[in-house]
Amino acid sequence: MLDASYRDAILPAMRIAYLECTRCVEHIPADRPQNVCPKDGGVLYVRYDVAGLRGKLRREGLASRVAIMWRYAEVLPDAKPVTLGEGFTPMIPSREYPGVYIKDEGLNPTGSFKARGMSAAVTIARHYGLKKLAAPSAGNAGGALAAYAAAAGIEAHIFMPKDVPIANRVETDYYGAHLTLVDGLISDCARIVAERKDKEGWFDVSTLKEPFRVEGKKTMGYEVAEQLQWKLPQGIIYPTGGGVGMIGMWKAFDEMEQLGWIGAERPKMVTVQAAGCAPIVKAWEEGKSISEMWTGAETFAAGLRVPKAYGDYLILDIIKQSKGTAVSATDDEILDAVRHWASIEGVFAAPEGAASLVAYQKLRASGFFRKEDVVVLFNTGTAYKYLDMMEAKKRTTRPEPPTSRNIGGIIGPY
Ligand SMILES: Cc1ncc(COP(=O)(O)O)c(C=O)c1O
Ligand SMILES: [Zn+2]
Repeated sequence: MLDASYRDAILPAMRIAYLECTRCVEHIPADRPQNVCPKDGGVLYVRYDVAGLRGKLRREGLASRVAIMWRYAEVLPDAKPVTLGEGFTPMIPSREYPGVYIKDEGLNPTGSFKARGMSAAVTIARHYGLKKLAAPSAGNAGGALAAYAAAAGIEAHIFMPKDVPIANRVETDYYGAHLTLVDGLISDCARIVAERKDKEGWFDVSTLKEPFRVEGKKTMGYEVAEQLQWKLPQGIIYPTGGGVGMIGMWKAFDEMEQLGWIGAERPKMVTVQAAGCAPIVKAWEEGKSISEMWTGAETFAAGLRVPKAYGDYLILDIIKQSKGTAVSATDDEILDAVRHWASIEGVFAAPEGAASLVAYQKLRASGFFRKEDVVVLFNTGTAYKYLDMMEAKKRTTRPEPPTSRNIGGIIGPY
């Protein structure tokens, strides 16, 4: 819903040149809230006069800036940020695999990388004068939207599957959002938002149906480059649900090239999905450019339970252009990887994030990545938000062999 004064609020010096459809390349004005391309439903990208910044915005100038994602202000909307300190997360060198880095997004406000997208989306929403936002969520996006909406004084209406981790339900409630639990998947939640939004006066900030969440997530690409001293890695492994991070990082690389900050090199972009919901992996293996709706989606990595990504055509194109690949990980493999990372690296990763380790191990074994390749594994969230799921999962998977390191385990011969 628009505030009557929103038009006056638009900054005349708006850095955004226009929004561009990723299907028909049509330009759409950014002086009012937009969702998708009105012609063909294509995802809209925010375009700036990046080439005009070349030579003026220098990467050396970043060092003295505040260590949050808004340090890249010139390539983000020029509205007053709604910030909780998101971004500029650590890039932890792996103790186990030299040359591998864990980008630890679990340290963001609300414990996941969703904070970045929601910081940008709520910032522009407030700038436009929007009063009510709505989104379907696999869990973490809902928590992040609730937090940023609270900070901005905006209403949030969130729809989540009823079996999301408890943390997502509790945080959303405490942040004061309107939460509806749905007996279904995120695709069912999305349908409810679409059906009710006009009548209720909600602005839909669903994944990729709102252009600014990509802007927030793209800062991960800027950070990877900056934290690796402007040498992009050979590979990036990204746990893919809706794919916003992968899409955002790819956009960031193009912008950085236009800025003269990097060259034409690109990392191999790797999607990892849960074996119980792997529509992108299936489409990739079948050589398709769009995915099919996955039936019977099931995994405890809640953020990967996305049966059909709205931007599937973009994800598959990025994998192809970058000479990347797509792999899946079973829940048992993921759970083992959570424990492995925790015990070897000291990183307690969300299941979605730990799936990156499974993918890396598979791709090293297959020779896709070599020992000398620099590879960034995205841990997209913290395990602290999944304790209930992990406890429940433990009962259905094989127990860890007890060792003297297991607190409470049986020590000695048995
Ligand atoms: C921890 C975590 N990792 C990964 C994802 C997938 O993110 P994306 O939709 O950007 O692919 C989600 C989405 O909910 C998530 O919560
Ligand atoms: Zn279009």
